[in-house]
Amino acid sequence: MKRRNFIKLSGLSTTALMVGTSIPFFSSCLNNNMDMGGNMNMGQLVPVTEGDFSALFAKPPIVSGTTTLTAQNATTNSSGFGKVKGLGYHANGLLGPTIRVNNGQSMNVYFVNQLNEKTNIHWHGLKIPALMDGHPENFINAGGSFNYNFTINQRAGLYWYHPHAEGTTGKQVFQGLAGLIIVNDPEESSLNLPSGNRELPLVIQDKRISAGSIPYAPTMMDQMTGLMGPYILVNGVYAPFHNVETAKYRVRILNGSNARIYNLALSNGASFNVIGNDGGLLATPQEVNSLIIAPGERADLIIDFSTMGINSELFLISKTFIGGNAQGTQEFKIMKFKVATQVDDNFSIPTTLSSIYQLTESMSTKNRNFEISNVDSGPMSGMTMHTINNKSYDANRIDELVNYGSIETWTFDNTNGTEPHPMHLHGVQFQILNRTGGRNTLTALEKGWKDMVLCMPGEKVRVIVPFNGFTGKFVFHCHNLEHEETGMMGQFQVS
Ligand code: C2O
Ligand code: CU
Ligand code: CU
Repeated sequence: MKRRNFIKLSGLSTTALMVGTSIPFFSSCLNNNMDMGGNMNMGQLVPVTEGDFSALFAKPPIVSGTTTLTAQNATTNSSGFGKVKGLGYHANGLLGPTIRVNNGQSMNVYFVNQLNEKTNIHWHGLKIPALMDGHPENFINAGGSFNYNFTINQRAGLYWYHPHAEGTTGKQVFQGLAGLIIVNDPEESSLNLPSGNRELPLVIQDKRISAGSIPYAPTMMDQMTGLMGPYILVNGVYAPFHNVETAKYRVRILNGSNARIYNLALSNGASFNVIGNDGGLLATPQEVNSLIIAPGERADLIIDFSTMGINSELFLISKTFIGGNAQGTQEFKIMKFKVATQVDDNFSIPTTLSSIYQLTESMSTKNRNFEISNVDSGPMSGMTMHTINNKSYDANRIDELVNYGSIETWTFDNTNGTEPHPMHLHGVQFQILNRTGGRNTLTALEKGWKDMVLCMPGEKVRVIVPFNGFTGKFVFHCHNLEHEETGMMGQFQVS
């Protein structure tokens, strides 16, 4: 980032720059800046430490759309680290139950905040009224409660819920608050996809765990890269294994990490099929050997164990990828599947999964451009700042006015950036038109309907968005939660 912007974004006057101990640090940043060829990048790697994959995999319990969720301190005994204190939406440990609902059903969630700070619930991916959406300013104070009440009007798919109060989101998610929402509909049911014990929801998250707790104390460097941890947990368990049958499984993955991106693959190099993503089923299955999934994104996969021998093992791994200085340099294992039971499985993946109404650019009546490259730090303030169009989040400012019912093209421009930014819009589902620079193409996960789009360094990505959900004030932001917390969020008003 250029020095000019650097000073401007730090929010400090040049006089302030001359004061105190900040000067040596500032000049070392400038040196760093020059070393990096004009882009300041203090990207710090947090290497993954693989476990021994001896802990039992567990699915979160399932509840209906009429339920109580209580944000609370929770102690887990099953993470693989002995007793660990974190947060949960139930008393039985990290995370929360999976809410399973049919399209058209009403959700009636009585939410209780038993934390000692503000929180709320955002229903990530759902098209619901603004006042139910968990806007960062619509929070519930410690000890309070709120009734989340809305109707599901949504394609079958994997959505999720997590806290979204201003200033506490990154911490609360990292310490354990998140849960899945599975929406079913008749189109999906008619496909007879693997279900019951052959449907595995996986919340993949990296954590820091020490002295029986999950510390959240991002350094400036963590704020720059996003907070990453060395331990990869699946559904709240470190390095788990699961016994499977010789059959095809539906593996439904949420990357619930604050900042870490995964490049999913199988340890034997076998291909797998992508059948769905953020907004539900794809039109047709996409066979891949690896798949990049950013924080907040979901991937609905079919993994085939049917040709594997009894007692053989297969790991879900993350392969290396190009993603800035702090991501993608290491290959590591996430979870182990052990083939334990011989069965006959006659499921074959349908060649057509869903019908998707394809939006085209000609339907769009407005283009908006979002510069997301200029997002580095202001070390003098002791805090990193991230921006969209050189602005950091201001609850009192509406950034974009959108006409209800209109279709717009939004461009996220990370051409000059050095960090990956998974961008997310509340209250809508969109389609991705194209990507130029960087990977220069769309991945299997980027067809169909989305509420997230990953912009790697050097990339410019265009999405087409129908604002046909609800009127009101919504946020859009980077789903790297430390970027979001340090300003990389804006508001749009639909009216
Ligand atoms: Cu998971 Cu504002 O989002
Ligand atoms: Cu969201
Ligand atoms: Cu970001």
